Amino acid sequence: MFESLQEMPADAILGLIAEYREDPRANKIDLGVGVYRNAAGDTPVLDSVKKAEHRLVGTQTSKTYIGTAGDPSFNAAMQAMTFADSVPGDRLVTIQTPGGSGSLRVAAGLLLRARANATVWVSEPTWANHVPLLGGAGLQLKPFPYYDTKRHVIEIDAMLDALRAAPKGDVLLLHACCHNPSGLDPTDDEWLAIADVIVERELVPFVDSAYQGFARNIDDDAFIIRHLAARVPELIVSNSCSKNFGLYRDRVGTVSLLAADAAIRGVVSSQINNYVRTLYSVPPDHGAAVVSMILNDEALRAEWLIELNEMRDRLREMRVLLHSELLQKVSEHDFSHLVRANGMFCFLGISAEQVTRLKQDFGIYMVNSSRINVAGITADNVSYLSDAIAEVMN
Ligand code: LMR
Repeated sequence: MFESLQEMPADAILGLIAEYREDPRANKIDLGVGVYRNAAGDTPVLDSVKKAEHRLVGTQTSKTYIGTAGDPSFNAAMQAMTFADSVPGDRLVTIQTPGGSGSLRVAAGLLLRARANATVWVSEPTWANHVPLLGGAGLQLKPFPYYDTKRHVIEIDAMLDALRAAPKGDVLLLHACCHNPSGLDPTDDEWLAIADVIVERELVPFVDSAYQGFARNIDDDAFIIRHLAARVPELIVSNSCSKNFGLYRDRVGTVSLLAADAAIRGVVSSQINNYVRTLYSVPPDHGAAVVSMILNDEALRAEWLIELNEMRDRLREMRVLLHSELLQKVSEHDFSHLVRANGMFCFLGISAEQVTRLKQDFGIYMVNSSRINVAGITADNVSYLSDAIAEVMN
C-alpha cells in the first residue's frame, strides 16, 4: 500500500538543519531554525537546567506513568507564569503537552470536538508550521493581514478591519510576543484595540506563546494573554518551554483553556484529558519536571531569569550590530525593522533568489522567505554576513 504515497519536500525550516550540517565551508552561518545560540555559536544547556537535572536524577524514585495531564506542580507553575492573577483559577485548566507543537495539536483536537467546522484566522504570514499543523488536524484556516512586506510594519488597520469582518465565534490565532516569522509585535495600545475587536466580535482568542521572556520580560510578554483572560469568556493558550528554558528536544509545553465558568471548565478538562489519551496517552516527563523544579525553587528560578535575560539581551545586541553594519554597506536600504523586531526573528526583506545566492555563494542559511534567526550572528561573523548581504543586494 505504501506505493501510493508520494515523497514530501523537506520541511522549510527543519530541512535547513541537515543542509547546513553537510556544508563543508568553515565560514558558513546558520540563520535558519529558531534555536538560541551564544556568542560562541553554541546552544548550551542552561546552568539552571543542569542543576535541576542533577537534583532530579538524585531524587527521582520512579519512572511510572504520569497522567494524561502531566505533572500538577509543573502545570500550576506554568499557569501562574502565564496568567498571574488575571483570572480565577476555577475557570482555567492547564495540562502538560509534548512541546508547543503538541500543545497546538491538542488544542486543535479540542476545538474540532467543540465545533466540527471551526475556522481559525492566522496572521499573514505566520509560523510556517502553523498552517500544516492546524490545517492537517482538520481546522479551516483563513489569513488576516499582519505584515507589510514593503514598509516592514504591522498593517494594524487592515488587520483590525479583517477581524471586524470575521464571523462571530471564529477562532483567532495570535502570537503572544516575538511574532514568528516577522519579530514585529503590536504595541500595548494596538493589543488593546485588537482585544476590543475580539470582545466586540465574540471571537475566541488562541494565543501561541513560544517566546515568553524574549521580548521584554516574563510579565510584559504575557500582556495580551492576561488582558484577554480578564475580558473574554473563552481563551486558549499554547505555551512552549523550548526557547525560554532551552529544552528544545525534551518537548515541554502546556495548553491552557479558559472556560466561561467552573462547571464548563470541568467538562473541558475531561474532554482534553480524554483527547490526549487517544492521541499520545501521556506526555514525556523529564523536561517538565526540570521546569517545575526551577519555577518552584527561589534560587533556581532567579538563576534561570538571569540566563533568560542574557539570551534576550544578546539577541538585541546582534540585531543592533547587524543593523549598523548594513547601514554602512547598503546605506540606501531601510533595515530599521531589524531593530524594531523582538526575539529571534525578522525578515531581511530580500528575494528568494537572493536567499539562494547567500546559501550557494556564501554558505549563509536562512528560510526562503528571508526570515533570519539573529541568534546565528556573532561579533566574528557579522562583517562577513553583512558583506555577503550587500553583495547580493547590489
Ligand atoms: C522555528 O520557527 O524555527 C522554530 O519554531 C523551530 C520549528 O520547529 O520550526
